[in-house]
Formats: sequence, C-alpha cells, structure tokens
Amino acid sequence: MNYDFDAIIERRGTGCEKWDDLAAVFGTDDVLPFWVADMDFAAAPGILAAVRAKAAHPVYGYHVKEESFFAAAMDWERRRHGWEVGRSWLVNTPGVVSSLGAAVLALTDPGDKIVIQPPVYPPFFSCVTRNGRQVVENPLRQRGGRWEMDLDDLESKLGPDVKMLVLCSPHNPVGRVWTRDELLALGEICLRHDITVVADEIHCDLVFSGHRHVPFATLGPELAARTVTFFSPSKTFNIAGTYTSLAVVPDPGRRAKYGALLAGLGMTSGNLFGLAAAEAAFKTGEDWLDTLLPYLEDNADLLAAFVGREMPGIKVAKPEGTYLAWLDFRGRFADHAALNEFLVGAAKVGLNDGLSFGHQGKGFARFNFACPRALMLEGLSRIAAALKMRG
Ligand SMILES: Cc1ncc(COP(=O)(O)O)c(C=O)c1O
Repeated sequence: MNYDFDAIIERRGTGCEKWDDLAAVFGTDDVLPFWVADMDFAAAPGILAAVRAKAAHPVYGYHVKEESFFAAAMDWERRRHGWEVGRSWLVNTPGVVSSLGAAVLALTDPGDKIVIQPPVYPPFFSCVTRNGRQVVENPLRQRGGRWEMDLDDLESKLGPDVKMLVLCSPHNPVGRVWTRDELLALGEICLRHDITVVADEIHCDLVFSGHRHVPFATLGPELAARTVTFFSPSKTFNIAGTYTSLAVVPDPGRRAKYGALLAGLGMTSGNLFGLAAAEAAFKTGEDWLDTLLPYLEDNADLLAAFVGREMPGIKVAKPEGTYLAWLDFRGRFADHAALNEFLVGAAKVGLNDGLSFGHQGKGFARFNFACPRALMLEGLSRIAAALKMRG
C-alpha cells in the first residue's frame, strides 16, 4: 500500500503539544517545531478504522482488556523481536512514564539509589527523584563520534544501596541501538551486583538498516527474572496520545509487587480507544511501519549529510534507531543560553533543550526528524542560514 509521508498535515489548533504549546515553551509561536517525540504523520489506516469503529458506538463506558489485545502484543514481540513473552508476564499500563514511576515505587525503597545513563530522556531523572529515590549518573561517553556505555564508571558507582538501573534501549536522545554484546556486558554487571533492570524499550521498533534491537530480557533466564520491560505501540505507530503501553514482568515476585502498586494507585483500567488503537496497530500496522522505516532512515541520512555539509562546527552521529538526532553545537556555542536563544530567536526552530537530558547535554539540542522531508529540510536550512549570518 502507498502511504504519503510527505503530506503536510495541519496539526495547529488540534490541541497537540508539539504545535500548540510553542508559545508556552519557546516564548513565541514563530518557530517550526522539532521537539516533542511524536511524528507529523497520519496513523496507519487500520488504526484509524479501529478507533473510528469504537467512536461510532455512542456509549464510551469502561472497557474490558480483551485477550485479543494481549495476544496481538505477544505476537508482535515474537514476530518483530524473536521474544516469546509469557501471557502471565504482561501487564497493561497507561503510559511508559507512569509505568516507570510505578516500577520505581514498587521495586525499590525510599532513599535507594537508581542508575540512569545520561544524557537521557528527562523523566528518567524525575521518576527517581520525585519518588524519593536518588539518581546515580553513569554518563554515556563518546568514542570516535559513537556513543557508548561506560561500564568501568558503572562498576565504580555500584554498591549495596544501588538497587535499580533504568536502561533506555534504543537510547533517547543519542539514537544508539545497543548490541547484544553491549547488553550482555551490562547484564553481567547487573547480575553480579543484584540490580533490578528497568528496560524502557519504547523505541524498539524504530531501528535502521544494519542494526537489530535485542530485548534485554532475552539475554537469558537470570536476566529476564530481574528485568521489567516496557514497550508500547505509541512511538512506533504515532499513537502516543492514546496512552496505552505494556510492562513485561517475568518474575512472579516482582510482578506481584508491581501489580499491587498499580492496584493501589488505581492504574488497572484500560483506555477504550487506546486498547483498540494498540491492538489494530499490532495486527494491521506492519506494512505501514515497514514503509515508514526507510523514510525515516532517509531523513536521518539527509540530516547527517546536511549537518556535515552546511553546518560547519556542528556535529551529529547518524542515529541507529529512534527518530531523534542529538546535535552537538559545542564547536560554535560556548554558552548554552546563547545556543537556545540562537535556535529560537535567529533560526526560528523549536528543538529540545539539551540540558533537559542532564548536564551532559550542555551545548546540545535534540532534533526530531519524524516529519515530512520538506519540513525537516526547512528546519535544517533555517539553522544553517542563521549560523552563516552569525559568522
Ligand atoms: C525513552 C522514552 N520513554 C518513554 C516515553 C514516553 O512514554 P509515554 O508517553 O508512554 O509515557 C518516551 C517519549 O519520548 C521516551 O522517549
């Protein structure tokens, strides 16, 4: 089937965060948005049909979480990632961020230390600190332009009070798709130090040619038992507004604690439209996704080439997955506030502030390239032209 990812769809005035919240976030409406991690593309036809069918019935009451939803999710993991997920391991949760907060509360105690690997998705910080736990930073490092985990640094920071590690796989914002060997090396350390791993795999389906997502819990039964994995059709199929995700908790003890916490928070009901959209995505969205991925990868290639050619002093590593590019402006901007002022005031683009991903993001900004190519090129051209003007 043909899908038109070049179509410009007007999103202003729909209450969408990316286009309708610009003044609040950037102080002006006069920027092209490349921030919030959703896509400016229409959802797959099968999803639209399923949601419309639900909406057509006039009663929007409480909904059963049907077995067909879980079967579709399990089938998806098996087909796309070779992971045989047990039915009893699966828990439907509203969104990945709330699931992460719940895992922190259920599986650690107040004051415990939790490792994250910045620069990283901002809620990884807040889900720890706002729940009364302490962040231990194990920053990524760059080698030959490629982002890597620093496992020596990790080892040096582990101790009996470190209970959990939150893994971002694939990694937002650096776009790495961790290899099996990298994950095995990390897993070996987590086993030795008795660390529970929370694997946020929300970007698992957005992986480019030559790379393969390895679900952390497939690395072996011992690691599976200490891992809670999150996945969701929300990023993959651009249905983030429907807030429906899944947690996979193979270990019965951890599952009981997690389930009890969710019950205590009243987080056990499903969303009528979210469940319908998710099931349709897993069942009918594959062709759409397989058409989307080369489009996104072409955008990634074009972006990397454009930055190399037209933006002297700015660096980017082509992402291996996700639709996010982590732009390194340090060669041109010593001052982070000046970078933000430049992007908004001179280039008139709305990117994610690098500093929101941790202090390691000083001098960086995140560019979301999941948009029609013409829009992406317009945004990049604005930055390049403003850089030239700045001299
Ligand atoms: C790593 C990661 N986790 C979670 C989310 C958001 O998940 P949700 O909208 O389901 O809370 C995002 C969105 O950008 C993300 O990048």
